[in-house]
Amino acid sequence: MIEDYIIVKHSPRLQGTVELVGAKNAVLVIIASLLLTDGKSFLSNVPISDDVWQMIALLRDLGAEVTFDIERHTLEVDTRFVAKYSVRAEIMKKMRASVLVMGPLLARFGRADIAMPGGCVIGARPIDYHLAGFQKMGAEIATEGEYLSAHANALHATKIILEYPSVGATENLLMAATLTSGTTRIVNVALEPEVLDLITILQKMGAHIVIEPPATLLVEGVAQLYPVEHAVMYDRLEAGSLLLAVAITGGEINLPHAPAYAMEMFLIKLVEMGHKVNIGANDIGVSLRATQSPRAVSFKTAPYPGFPTDLQAPMLAAQCIAEGTSVIYETVYENRLVHISELQRMGAQIKVEYNKATVMGVETLYGSSVIATDIRASCALVLAGLAAKGTTRMSGVHHLARGYEQLPKKLQQLGARIYYKKGIFAADFKSKEQFSRDSRKSA
Ligand code: UD1
Repeated sequence: MIEDYIIVKHSPRLQGTVELVGAKNAVLVIIASLLLTDGKSFLSNVPISDDVWQMIALLRDLGAEVTFDIERHTLEVDTRFVAKYSVRAEIMKKMRASVLVMGPLLARFGRADIAMPGGCVIGARPIDYHLAGFQKMGAEIATEGEYLSAHANALHATKIILEYPSVGATENLLMAATLTSGTTRIVNVALEPEVLDLITILQKMGAHIVIEPPATLLVEGVAQLYPVEHAVMYDRLEAGSLLLAVAITGGEINLPHAPAYAMEMFLIKLVEMGHKVNIGANDIGVSLRATQSPRAVSFKTAPYPGFPTDLQAPMLAAQCIAEGTSVIYETVYENRLVHISELQRMGAQIKVEYNKATVMGVETLYGSSVIATDIRASCALVLAGLAAKGTTRMSGVHHLARGYEQLPKKLQQLGARIYYKKGIFAADFKSKEQFSRDSRKSA
């Protein structure tokens, strides 16, 4: 069996304008949040990625009626017939974000039965903060092997202190708190732009949420939340990936919808590298003209407003051919430097010590056979392939499709020499054998 793969050839300077899609990390939790309501909601700017299809499958399995208009990027979700609180293991295992239905199900039904979530293999990625928070709110949690069952006759308002500003734990506990009587206080929350988009839609539903500086959420529970219309925020991570693709080839790009207000630390680093960056009115829209001799920059990933861990891998790829040495610390995930061994195959000079990568810029990378291990690693390898001499063959392409809507096509439109190749599966082999048998018979 040969899986789908991508061929990337050394590409000219990429140039053009790209329309971004809605943010994957916002839309997944937003779809889950609709379980808090009882009626028909309407989302626009919904990206078409495999994780979105998975979240749709999950909601349908719970009884929601979902219509995805892929031409218009709109999603209509009717939650009136949701009557189930248990999620099938095969759906849970396809992506980590499926754990985000736990808060809404507990709040609406007082019960959630799930399997441990799957998703990208980036470190251990436990869900202990989620569970400790639900327990503090009065939920009883029982585990059996990979299955987990949570129930609470009525969740109660309390103060929850997160040990780390986890995006998922903040979102899950916040959603549960919106329908919990009394005032829930969640301290040390993540305030990623996607969390703020979730807060916006919850407020539209009728939730009472206040952000108290520096990072506390005060949630006054209400008896009911109502269906809404909402346009998902544009994807800062897609924007960052495209800016880096253009930067690595020395080209020019305009992203009229890029949420510059949510990309500050990343944009500062592009400017430090020597690229010319212009930001549109009201902090919306980014254009970039790349320098032909980029300088290496150092950075450390951190919760927002720090440098986003999801842009670490593509930014690291750009450092491989920058002038000088870049020191990169990955502080969010303990195991998110696995793309480095693949970049080393392409000639990158990188030293790794625990969560620190020291990248010594080289003149040229060389095309090679590489394997993508997560969504952002796959983007990093594509970027390296654009700049490398020769041809890069990347397998593990399903990761790319989980997080990006048609990244190869968008890059092609900018002039990239990137080609998606369909694999050959066992069934195809069989039909070929059959074909040769049949052709022998007829000969
Ligand atoms: C979300 C994003 C992901 C991004 C990450 C950090 C979605 C769908 N995914 O993932 O793209 O990389 O935020 O910005 O929005 N942790 C624990 N215990 C927990 C929860 C988390 O130890 O209960 C640890 C994780 O292992 C990780 C760190 O906390 O090391 C951050 O994880 P978290 O912020 O929860 O990320 P996700 O919500 O899974």
